[in-house]
Amino acid sequence: MTQRVAFVTGAMGGLGTAICQAYAKDGYKVVAAYHPQFDNKDEWLKEMEAAGFKGLVCVAGDVSSLEDCQKMAAEAEANAGPIDILVNNAGITRDRMFAKMDKDQWDAVISTNLTSLFNMTKQVSAKMAERGWGRIINISSVNGVKGQAGQSNYSAAKAGVIGFTKALAQELATKGVTVNAIAPGYVATKMVMAIREDILKSIVDTIPMKRLAKPEEMGALCSYLASDLAGYMTGATLNINGGLYLQ
Ligand code: CAA
Repeated sequence: MTQRVAFVTGAMGGLGTAICQAYAKDGYKVVAAYHPQFDNKDEWLKEMEAAGFKGLVCVAGDVSSLEDCQKMAAEAEANAGPIDILVNNAGITRDRMFAKMDKDQWDAVISTNLTSLFNMTKQVSAKMAERGWGRIINISSVNGVKGQAGQSNYSAAKAGVIGFTKALAQELATKGVTVNAIAPGYVATKMVMAIREDILKSIVDTIPMKRLAKPEEMGALCSYLASDLAGYMTGATLNINGGLYLQ
């Protein structure tokens, strides 16, 4: 079998890095998609190499731009081959109580965290269906499932991710392409560490496990979802949140 190609957006962030490492360990060819404004690409690649992960292909683009997604997917295909696994992971926060939230903060989060799924998935879903195999993994959030004060934009986008996942899963169910969402709780990444210390402490106090998740715990789940043996799971939202919210 030829080496499968995994395309990960937001690849150089905390979660993205762990997902790339999990897929590299699984033997996939990894395409790391990153925002062109991220200026630590070379350092990130060096760190990956030092950790034993070589041969990654990097593509730059803004996932909120359809044109950028077209270019990134074409570049990935040219350098790595057809995309078998897509992880829509790129995401941002612009936390603000709704009364103070402005339209730019709303638009930025909706376009980066939700419209990006249209932009990226468009590039791969029909081709996966034609080839009869594919995995689309969308990163939602516990806050898309339960809602979070201060995150009406983020919670709306991440809930939208779940609706998108369920709809597309049905459309692709007979084509060998699964579509699933992961709803992580609070993971020890830069995004979560940006929460004011006292607020973060009060959040951790409400988590039954009394700790943040490790990024590699998310990577392990992505690894499973991309595997052949996960072929009967589709349209699911997998909660991985230390017990913070139980459905
Ligand atoms: N529920 C209801 N009301 C709340 C509240 C809550 N959980 N928290 C605060 N409030 C109220 C306060 O009581 C206060 O009310 P008054 O003005 O009447 O006194 C008002 O909201 C303002 O509260 P803050 O002092 O918190 O306002 P702020 O402007 O200093 O901060 C904020 C606002 C930036 C949104 C801050 O509350 C915050 O960071 N909250 C955490 C949001 C969060 O969990 N973000 C997750 C980021 S990580 C991530 O998103 C990854 C993932 O997927 C999990």
